[in-house]
Amino acid sequence: MKYPELVDVVEVGPRDGLQLEAFVPTERKLELINLLSQTGLSRIEATTFAPPKAVPPFRDAAEVMAGITRNTAVKYMALAPNAVGAQRALATNVDVLSFVLSASESHNQANVRMSVAESMRRFEAAAKMARAAGVPVRAYISTAFGCPFEGDVPVERLVRIAKTYEDLGASEVTVCDTTGMANPRQVDNVMVEVMNALRPGTAVALHFHDTRAAGMANVLAAMQVGVTTFDASIGGLGGCPFAPGATGNIATEDLVHLLHEMGIETGVDLDKLVPCARLVRELVGHEVPSHILKAGKRCDLFDFAAWRAQHL
Ligand code: COA
Ligand code: ZN
Repeated sequence: MKYPELVDVVEVGPRDGLQLEAFVPTERKLELINLLSQTGLSRIEATTFAPPKAVPPFRDAAEVMAGITRNTAVKYMALAPNAVGAQRALATNVDVLSFVLSASESHNQANVRMSVAESMRRFEAAAKMARAAGVPVRAYISTAFGCPFEGDVPVERLVRIAKTYEDLGASEVTVCDTTGMANPRQVDNVMVEVMNALRPGTAVALHFHDTRAAGMANVLAAMQVGVTTFDASIGGLGGCPFAPGATGNIATEDLVHLLHEMGIETGVDLDKLVPCARLVRELVGHEVPSHILKAGKRCDLFDFAAWRAQHL
């Protein structure tokens, strides 16, 4: 097996992780983003510029962008579901604009209430605005590995969307398993096709939700075919508000732990990440899917003498 030496982990927790949760006060969101900024992560998706009525957890998007204590080593990203959102995001000091559309018509209708072709027109407008502002664009393809309404999504459709994104100015295409329908063999097939279709200068990333416990297996399959950028969410929170039964992204601390145990560098300090996972658990007020929070790191050994005194 061939593994990369270095993997880029993109933190989407303050956006994807909080979108199914009750509103988290702005200053507490900032506390989380600022703490994440000190962990070695190179990119953090901080918020979404959706209409406050449609996605209330992010009604403070502009305040969040303005309030971050910026670490110059971190790029702060914000998501836009349409051109209005892109305009609002670009009016802030956003470093990277992310844009979302779904590979399947019904999920796109559910999520952004328009056809995929219409979303792509909004993307074109958003990408133009971003180019004029000198801001790079990261383009998400949601429901790429399966749609909760339509089932399988043809690879040719993904390739077409990825190439259109590239032609319209996306510097990175992120292929998303929005509702955890991917399996490792499928990841292998899809990513080979998508990467072959794109120009070498276009970056490719993967975004896995762990809905059916295949998240880490999918990461391993993707690394085998040369993918080195993965989204993850602190604490393993997340989910799409328009997909029935959706659950969280792979947890950032679980992913970083696994990669480090495999000798793969991430530039992220796991010991600084774990307090962020604890903080997000406190902010949402319920248990989070993280494994590392529950089990600790593999090298967190028990004190045998203390254990024996208690149990033997
Ligand atoms: N931010 C703020 N206001 C917005 C906006 C945005 N991004 N997009 C549209 N609006 C405003 C319009 O200006 C319009 O205002 P008006 O009533 O005063 O004229 C109103 O909202 C309705 O606009 P419309 O274009 O009809 O949007 P919509 O109501 O059909 O909503 C989306 C479309 C895409 C904005 C909405 O479906 C959405 O945000 N979905 C959530 C996507 C998401 O974040 N999903 C999770 C991440 S994958
Ligand atoms: Zn997601």
